[in-house]
Amino acid sequence: MDSGAWLVYQKGWKSGRRKASTGFRPKGARGMSNVETLNPATGDRFHPDPERSYTLEARYYIEPEIYEREKAAIFYRGWSFACHAGQVSEPGAYTEFRVADQNLFAIRGKDGKLRAFYNVCSHRAHELVRGSGTKTVITCPYHAWSYHADGRLRSARGSEKVAGFDAEEFCLKQVQLEEIAGFVFVNLDPEAPSLASQTQGLEAEMRRYCPEIDKLKFACRLTYEIEANWKNVVDNYLECYHCATAHPAFADLVDISKYRSVTYGIHSSHIAPAGRADNTAYSFDGGDGTPNSFAGWWLWPNLTLNIFPGPPNITTLHIIPTGPETTLEHFDFYFLESEPSAGEREAIEYMDKVLQPEDIGLVESVQRGLHSRGYRQGRFMVDAARSHLSEHAVHHFHNLVMNALRT
Ligand code: FES
Ligand SMILES: [Fe+2]
Repeated sequence: MDSGAWLVYQKGWKSGRRKASTGFRPKGARGMSNVETLNPATGDRFHPDPERSYTLEARYYIEPEIYEREKAAIFYRGWSFACHAGQVSEPGAYTEFRVADQNLFAIRGKDGKLRAFYNVCSHRAHELVRGSGTKTVITCPYHAWSYHADGRLRSARGSEKVAGFDAEEFCLKQVQLEEIAGFVFVNLDPEAPSLASQTQGLEAEMRRYCPEIDKLKFACRLTYEIEANWKNVVDNYLECYHCATAHPAFADLVDISKYRSVTYGIHSSHIAPAGRADNTAYSFDGGDGTPNSFAGWWLWPNLTLNIFPGPPNITTLHIIPTGPETTLEHFDFYFLESEPSAGEREAIEYMDKVLQPEDIGLVESVQRGLHSRGYRQGRFMVDAARSHLSEHAVHHFHNLVMNALRT
């Protein structure tokens, strides 16, 4: 993996701060009531059966108290995307990343093993690293305590004069780490079951759609700040019901009539054959050996991995909550070379200038709409055939959210 990035965009999609919710919601849902109220005490009509269920209530996308519960129940317990192994391939290579409000870093030890730690000094809590780079020793900028890349405390000036000082107690605090096809994930919960055991079939399917996956190199990152709750952004990814109306070029790039979403335990797949090679999104060589599909996967709670039509590629869209109604997106591109070709640049341009603004405009409008006194919860458009119009994968996600919040 070449660590050189071709370019880094910084994007702000500010459309003005909106007032916090008043907390007022109409009592009881209005209109047709062919679905029973699941929770008579509150009137919530979310149901574990997608064909009977209403969507998550608006308050789930707004209330700070729910966001706090989500941090504990979802982000501190689930598997979160960290980085790509190729970005930290040499001994001492490190990179910083976030899991909701927690700052962490991954670093490769002298023994070649990749580990992840909370990015905090055990002395008085200064952050230890910024960004990415290479260090043989991690030295805290505050009072110069130092740590080995495997997390052991190396030195703490004056500690020999401190009664009962136990260096073992002040090692870096490590978290679980696992890889899927080179993509690195961490879990802050030491008791969490392994990611591999929860995502059976995912890696094999990724390899089927991108046989060159082990050869891909990080090329660039696009960054977006979005005025929307993280679940609103995830919801938008999980259905193609909106593709024909909101993404005319994407509907030309892929054959959306054949778009199919399939849900599994904690992930879902979203796959469609490619459309015309000379479509209006970006052109690609439709010859032999060119991936001829769009294949995407959402992985609980907040990562998508996508293979777009064209030469071997994969993109990650990491949807990082930064507050109840704000989200940071990291959109990373991986190609056979870290310097994108002209065709790959055209694809990046399309995603940055067309696809992302289309989706961000949608979710920011939805976020404003969720504050409306005229809305409480909608209804999933789910059909028995699970067609390209069906929103069952959004329900699958909502069901995981509700289950997590109940535990
Ligand atoms: S906080 Fe790190 S050495 Fe004091
Ligand atoms: Fe979209």
